[in-house]
Amino acid sequence: MSHTSQRYEFQNKVGDYALLAAELAGLLTGESDLIANAANTSALLYSALPEVNWAGFYFLRDGELVVGPFQGKPACVRIPVGKGVCGTAVQRRETLVVADVHEFPGHIACDAASRSEIVIPLVTKQRVFGVLDLDSPRPGRFDKDDQRGLERLAEIFVANTRIEGVA
Ligand code: SME
Repeated sequence: MSHTSQRYEFQNKVGDYALLAAELAGLLTGESDLIANAANTSALLYSALPEVNWAGFYFLRDGELVVGPFQGKPACVRIPVGKGVCGTAVQRRETLVVADVHEFPGHIACDAASRSEIVIPLVTKQRVFGVLDLDSPRPGRFDKDDQRGLERLAEIFVANTRIEGVA
């Protein structure tokens, strides 16, 4: 399936991520529910970003990542901390950018079309409570500008969302 719904061309990544950040802040203003905000954030990212075949959340539940709201094909439900790109990002508490998922030991393939991935830990009060995960069918899809732009979007999500009861 092709993904032709993106509303930004991302010729100017820094500028377009700034527009997307303003759009996300507007979308989440006045609502703090975790599921509602995660659902709308994943829908916004999936519809706005070119060359993305999965965009969504995993949240820590009893020490394990469990899939949350997302857009894309059905995904594996549970990922232990330290496993896959998502579990490794939680363990290291840092964003992981994987240019070629076939080269990442232990990568968990949910959609065989995925070739590159970025996973951003979500942190509140110094605790990781989940990740924001995006996959692309193009190897090397995510660069430093994507990392900075998406980390900013993750911050906006965290700042606008009530986290109690997670992790
Ligand atoms: N590839 C991830 C699993 C989640 S999916 O990409 C949606 C991983 O290796 O953790």
